[in-house]
Amino acid sequence: MESNNLPPIHMAGPWITELEIKTVEDAMRNGWYENPYWYCEELQRDFAAYHNRQHALMTPNCTSAIHLLLAALGIEAGDEVIVPECTWIATAAPISQLRAIPIFCDIQWDSWCLDPQSVERSITARTKAIIAVDLYGNMPQMDQLQEIADKHGVPLIEDAAEAVGSTLQGKKAGEFGIASVFSFHRTKTITTGEGGMLLLNDHRLLERYTILRDHGRHPGSATYLNEEVAYKYMPFNVQAAMGYAQFQRIDELVAKKQWILHSYKEKLADVPDIEFNIEPADVDNGAWITAMVPGASYGLDKHELMEQLAKVGVPSRPFFYPLSSLPAYLCAQEIYREKNPVAYDISSRGINLPGAMNLTEEQIDFVCDGVRKVLGTARGTKPTEGAAA
Ligand SMILES: Cc1ncc(COP(=O)(O)O)c(C=O)c1O
Repeated sequence: MESNNLPPIHMAGPWITELEIKTVEDAMRNGWYENPYWYCEELQRDFAAYHNRQHALMTPNCTSAIHLLLAALGIEAGDEVIVPECTWIATAAPISQLRAIPIFCDIQWDSWCLDPQSVERSITARTKAIIAVDLYGNMPQMDQLQEIADKHGVPLIEDAAEAVGSTLQGKKAGEFGIASVFSFHRTKTITTGEGGMLLLNDHRLLERYTILRDHGRHPGSATYLNEEVAYKYMPFNVQAAMGYAQFQRIDELVAKKQWILHSYKEKLADVPDIEFNIEPADVDNGAWITAMVPGASYGLDKHELMEQLAKVGVPSRPFFYPLSSLPAYLCAQEIYREKNPVAYDISSRGINLPGAMNLTEEQIDFVCDGVRKVLGTARGTKPTEGAAA
């Protein structure tokens, strides 16, 4: 392991200012009695307006937002829900929790997001929803996915957990499909430690969702007389206060993430055959985390790459594994490797680079230097010129 004199380099972590501290303090002091949900309601209102949606509902995390949404849509045992192969398990786990079946579809080379053709091929009479994920802030081909969803009469859901600040053709992540979900996990661009948000326009779905979120209490029903067994996925004021303050700073927070991605891209521009988060002309990528995929020419799989980087003091994480390859899903991998070859290939080589909000230019230089050394060695060449000292 090489040493450096820099402060520890973190994969992820928030940017907290006096604004967050003061706002949380206010919630601690005043967010009770008449105001137990004041910050939740303010954040919901502002978050919905920013994303041009009519309604927003906060949840304890994004996973519970997805779970509630699927439950509110009436997804049940035996139904099929299409998800991309490469995403965090949280996109698919709520499907399984409802005893429905996640159907893993391939991703595209040029977006790393759900491939519309793979979706079209996977639709059956039992398909009840399609969940598209804005992976690492990249944006899927939403027009085509919406067209397929409409043709087959199934709802399209946008998992925008990783995409606050991204836009596609001028439309914000969070504006696509019947509903979108966001995560405010401690690793995310806007964070409440744990937290999630659902955005939608449909009033009836909102009503159903609201009932399910709070133990099946129907509007107008008498106190403690629950009309159905449901969930308890309520947010709370102190958590929402932190989100409220972070959200005031959304431009600054997204700009920092984009600066990190673009710094890596620029500093490693002369290293051949590597790809970073996809940024086509019609996408502004919010760059939640920098993902780097070295080409097959390096002959390195992601585990070897991470191991070599660790030896030169650079932390990294693996690109999301194909869900069908996880022990959690016990799928016949030969079948899925053939069905979803792009996901298997990109995932086998891709890693995430450090992306904490406190990352400095010196630390980025150090990471880039490590990447150069490792990739240079893999190719049997000297590290390219221009590496940081
Ligand atoms: C694509 C995606 N969906 C859902 C989630 C779940 O978010 P949470 O941790 O807030 O439940 C995450 C979180 O990392 C994610 O990356």
